[in-house]
Order: sequence, then C-alpha cells, then structure tokens
Amino acid sequence: MQYNKKSVEDIDVAGKKVIVRCDFNVPQDDTGRITDDKRIVASLQTIKYLLEKKAAVILCSHLGRPKGQVNPKYSLKPVAERLSELLGQEVKLADDVIGESAKALAAALKPGEVMLLENVRFHKEEEKNDPAFAKELASMAEVYVNDAFGTAHRAHATTAGIADYLPAACGFLINKEISIMGKALADPARPFVAILGGAKVSDKIGVINNLIEKCDTIIIGGGMSYTFMKAMGKQIGTSLCEDDKLDLARGLLEKAEQKGVQLLLPIDTVCADHFAADAEPKTFDAGNLPDHMMGLDIGPKTIDLFSESLKDAGTVVWNGPMGVFDAFAVGTKAVAKAIAASNAVSIIGGGDSAAAVEKLGFANRMTHISTGGGASLEFLEGLELPGIACLQDR
Ligand code: 3PG
Repeated sequence: MQYNKKSVEDIDVAGKKVIVRCDFNVPQDDTGRITDDKRIVASLQTIKYLLEKKAAVILCSHLGRPKGQVNPKYSLKPVAERLSELLGQEVKLADDVIGESAKALAAALKPGEVMLLENVRFHKEEEKNDPAFAKELASMAEVYVNDAFGTAHRAHATTAGIADYLPAACGFLINKEISIMGKALADPARPFVAILGGAKVSDKIGVINNLIEKCDTIIIGGGMSYTFMKAMGKQIGTSLCEDDKLDLARGLLEKAEQKGVQLLLPIDTVCADHFAADAEPKTFDAGNLPDHMMGLDIGPKTIDLFSESLKDAGTVVWNGPMGVFDAFAVGTKAVAKAIAASNAVSIIGGGDSAAAVEKLGFANRMTHISTGGGASLEFLEGLELPGIACLQDR
C-alpha cells in the first residue's frame, strides 16, 4: 500500500486548535510507573512542531484495554506527567474525554499550550468508531493530526472517524513510518531479504504471502519454522507445530518456488527435552529431531547461513524472534548483529524484534525501528490501515 497523505507541514496550523491522536499505550509496572517511554518520546517531534507554530495542542490516546469503562488503572495521568517533563512545559490533563472538564480546558487552551484528554477507551464509542462521539471530539478543534502509527490498523473514532469532520493530516511519526516502509515494499534496494520468526505461521501468513511477491529471499526461523519442516515431511520431535496449517505451509513453499524466491529454513536446531530456561540445550540437524526433543532456537550452522544471506542484502525487513526466550535467544541476538553489520536499509517490525535490537544496543545501526507491532505487520501484509487511509491526500 503506497500512501501520499498530507503531513502536518502541508496544512495551516498556526494559531489553530489541533487535536492530535498519539499512541501513548506505554508499558507500566504494578505501581503505574512507565517502564518504557519510547512511544511518548516518538510523539515529541510533531507536538513540538505544532507548539512552535503556535497551535493549541489537544492530545488524545488510548492506554491499555479498559473496555469502554472509566478505570483509574488506565488513566493517562502518568503519561501527562512524563510528557510534561520531556516537553519542559505543563501538560494539562482533562478529567474526561468529551465531558465538561475536557471541553472547558479545550475552550480555554491558548496557542503554544498543550492538554491531554483522558483515555479515549473509557468510552465504548471509541472502539465502535461511533460518529456522534467522533463529532464531539472534533468539535473541540479545527484540525486533526494522526500520529499514532501503533494504532493505525484500528478503525476507531480517534484514529479514523474523526477525520470525517476536520481537515486531517499525519504527524511526523506516521509520515516516517509510511515513507520508509512504503519505499521498502514498493522500490526496495536489492537483494530484498525478509526474516520472519515468532511462534505461529498463522500470525504471519498475510506477511509471507505479500513478501513472496516482493522479496528475493525469505528467511523463516522461530517456532513457525517447525510447521514448515513438518509440512516437508521432516522430524520435529515435540516442537511447536500448527497441524492445521501444514497445507498452507506447503502452499507457501510452492508459491516461493514458483516465484523464484529463495526460502531459507533452519538447518540445525537447538533443542531441549522440556520448555524451561534451565533446560540443557542440545543441537541437532534440523528436521531430524529425536521424538522427545523440542526445538527452541536456531543452531550455529543456521546462524552462519542466515548471516551470510543478510550480509549483502540491500533491504532487510525483520519481524519475530528466532528462539523462545532469554536462555534460547542466541539466534535472535545473532540475527540482530548480522543486520546491524550489513549496509542494508534495515526495517525492524515492532514487538520482540524491536526490543531485541534495542536491548542489544544495535538500535542506532538500524534504518528504522517501527513503533507499531500489529500495525507494522498489517502494513507489511499490504493491508490498508484505516488510521492512514482516512487522512487527506496530497
Ligand atoms: C499497540 O500497543 O499495539 C497499540 O497501541 C494498539 O493497541 P491495541 O492492540 O489495544 O489496539
């Protein structure tokens, strides 16, 4: 999906009230403390730009899944506090979303000031994309900016419906996500290598199907590789397998062959006889696992094979880990290292792969680490994202 949407720089925001949808869905510990503020940091460029242009900035977001009920556990208060520290100015937090508090704060908001509505998912109308709710939100502002890439795959009132009532553009974060990932899919520097992992084939069917049309090589590791192995008649012991997806895996293998796409699977497997961090690891040739053994990571020969293929790539897209968890994360680390060492345009889908790259200190060696988990997957699947489709074309 190629987008050519208006960005915040293409519309007149000076002196206007601008409602901005951010993805402030940040992880918190039991006390409510934010444990990773990356999504807040990622929203700063757009907010600062709007403030420099003397817009009055009304921010909104969801946090967690409060299911349409007001629940203090999901209050955006900690976000308002962190954002205020990062911006170095007050962020006024409304007590509600479209109630008296929000409306009064919005009406009094001056150019250069920032406020944040309470969690939009405190209203069930948000996820239902209720037009009346979207219209109420829109009535507080003159312009709508969507910068919530992580939520762009949802057709909700604040991510899509509101664009029916206001001039609508994307912020810098969404603009960056769609330009880099859009270019990689439409006109990639070659060879274009996709490396996909994670537990289930069923989560990645759409992505593999779409990437087979575009990539030169698809590397498959992680739990889902065992379904492919079994589909090829190999011995996978007690490894994770989706038996109802064997035909589908065969179909994908055939499709890759027909299209002349190289599809690489592991050639050796680190196993254990049970699934635990302290289990003793043993390595076997892939597809030749003893009956009682479970594949938990890619082996050293596979690391060499995958690294070799990544070395000269022009574009790499990576989504999903190669092994199960910390004790079996050697493969995931090695892949992160190989991508970091290559000169490829490197795009890391959100979630576990993004966390691995950051934890290992390779983040600054990557071209782009997406802020969206589900959203980046749907983008790579070639699906239309409602939160972007709703914005005005250039
Ligand atoms: C995410 O964390 O992936 C986004 O914020 C979307 O959240 P959701 O899956 O609850 O819609």
